[in-house]
Amino acid sequence: MKFGVCYYPEHWARADWRAHLEIMRDHHIEWVRVGEFAWHHLQPTPDTWTPDWLREWFDLAEAYGRKVLLGTPSATPPHWMLAQHPDMLAVDQHGNPRTFGARRQYCFSHLGYRGAAAAMAGRLAELFAEHPALGAWQTDNEFGCHETSLSYSPGAHRAFAAWLEERYGTIDALNTAWGNTFWSQTYPDFATIPLPNFTVTEANPSHWLDFRRFSSDQVVLFQRAQVEAIRAHDAAHPILHNFMAAEQGFDHYDAAVDLDIAGWDNYPLGFLATMFDDPAHKQDFLRTGDPDFQAFHHTLYRGLKQRLWVVEQQPGAVNWATYNPRPSPDTLALWVLEAYGHGAEVVSWFRFRQAHFAQEQMHEGLLNIDGSFNAGLDVMRQLHPLLAADEAEASSAASIALVYDYPSAWAWATTPHSEAFSYLFVVLTFYRALRARGHAVDIIGTQLSAEQLRAYTCILAPALLALDDAPSATHPQPHPDSFQARLKASGSFVVCGPRTHTKTPSMQARQPAPADPLAIALHVESLPDSARIAVTETASSNELPGGFRWWHELHPSPANTLWHSDAGAALWELDHAWQIAGVPDADLARAFVLALEHHQRIPVGTDLPHGVRIIRRGMHIIVLNFSDRQVHAADIDIPLGSPVFGTLPIPPGAAAVCHSPKPTSS
Ligand code: GAL
Repeated sequence: MKFGVCYYPEHWARADWRAHLEIMRDHHIEWVRVGEFAWHHLQPTPDTWTPDWLREWFDLAEAYGRKVLLGTPSATPPHWMLAQHPDMLAVDQHGNPRTFGARRQYCFSHLGYRGAAAAMAGRLAELFAEHPALGAWQTDNEFGCHETSLSYSPGAHRAFAAWLEERYGTIDALNTAWGNTFWSQTYPDFATIPLPNFTVTEANPSHWLDFRRFSSDQVVLFQRAQVEAIRAHDAAHPILHNFMAAEQGFDHYDAAVDLDIAGWDNYPLGFLATMFDDPAHKQDFLRTGDPDFQAFHHTLYRGLKQRLWVVEQQPGAVNWATYNPRPSPDTLALWVLEAYGHGAEVVSWFRFRQAHFAQEQMHEGLLNIDGSFNAGLDVMRQLHPLLAADEAEASSAASIALVYDYPSAWAWATTPHSEAFSYLFVVLTFYRALRARGHAVDIIGTQLSAEQLRAYTCILAPALLALDDAPSATHPQPHPDSFQARLKASGSFVVCGPRTHTKTPSMQARQPAPADPLAIALHVESLPDSARIAVTETASSNELPGGFRWWHELHPSPANTLWHSDAGAALWELDHAWQIAGVPDADLARAFVLALEHHQRIPVGTDLPHGVRIIRRGMHIIVLNFSDRQVHAADIDIPLGSPVFGTLPIPPGAAAVCHSPKPTSS
């Protein structure tokens, strides 16, 4: 695994460049990401092209033996672009156009800007494809960041009508698919369909879901134009995008079709502060981050292309969360080792030196505001010998897969039933419970073939909207078989529920079909987070710990019920599958994993101490201690050899890499 850093040559005097590259070289920073916000510096007016400074910097990077990840600068259109395309601004849900003065103000549907951004990407490729320092490309920067995937602009409106016509062919087909007889919503033609943001009360969920699909396609097509422009000059260097955590504005599987590597940006303390609610949980992991959230994203993004980079890594306090604590140096090492364990090829810090102007002055870097060294530099020195020496296969050997699907996220965000119902957090609940028992888990999309699915003995598809969804319009090779048929053909054991396959792909409630093995709930209730529905193990009559939260389905009890609640079946087996009728809390999720182990659907695991996670990689076991307590080898019921990095016992917030008695990889 290599280190990298995000660097902005345009922020520093030319005289500083050499000194900065020297520091990078001395601290094993092999990759330097540049360019992604530099449009104005490359083209200050429509007719002035000034890339010489970047070429000069590239030459220096080559002289210092560094490799460059070059970003296309489309996240920051310069001011003159507005004069060229006055209608290029995205419009938010309340009808307000975004303004110049920050970044990401463009609308993905605007064909003029899409073309200008692609032309810029092509121009950079023409100039730098042959440069020996170039190593890879990045498209744009964090698609969807600052809630920018959805735009309600007049251009988006027109494009949506055309997209709907392409999808449905006739307005009658659309009216039927959306169920528009309800509330007299029948449309006379495609041009009369509004965007779903200004309806008096909730818009039709089918309308919303199609708008989300349409918006996702715009992101994919925006990126595709740039990839094609780069590929016209550069067939060789890999192209990646830096995805975000928890971003659901577009379908990442579709976006990844055009990429070679999936990158993502990892800010564990910012995520904990902004995306989690429970104050006790936030206190527990204040300076380390959630023990599963980063791993979830490493796993998700590794699954996209089997090549993973962390393009931006938190190096200290950030500036953008609800509060911004500092991590310890041990925790910086823990985050790097976690990424390494999940197969990252590069971990690249954001950013090199803390900025002393504009928006991010309070965001730490590898160098402090005065140019002195921050903790990350030393962390790299410590980790370099281990990471440079390791040649283990980083590919996953997980036998358990979890399905994660963007249309499902859109569907349930449209009709949550409970405001607490979050698709991401439902899937994370199962992921967390499996990892807390030491299991390796892959995250997969619904596009996998039966052959690929066969690699997993157990596949969990909680809250998956539909098992028969057609791949999106942007997916080049749709499968002839439905996901359900491919799951069946794979022979894998499948776990469904809650909510799985309850809607059609166009968001109508599915009618129970006698041949369909998935039972449809008769009633659904949703609960405040404080409430729990108690669940009993049917064979033993023992009440299980915890219960269902947020969401509870009431099913008639089938014969083969493993668990039940007072209201009916809670977990049952049918046709080589289990169905679970609610969102389990942490205790019940653990009981669920124990049940999978007990029924030999997955291997037997072991309870890990609070906040401790393990990753097996080659001859090593990486033990990550996210907790604020010291962890001794004896606390972990897995044989650990001597540490090759870190110490046993493991201090709070630190990691150790130990010899593993048995060679495995995860
Ligand atoms: C990311 C973004 C970077 C920088 C960073 C600060 O979301 O890609 O440009 O703003 O956050 O943490």
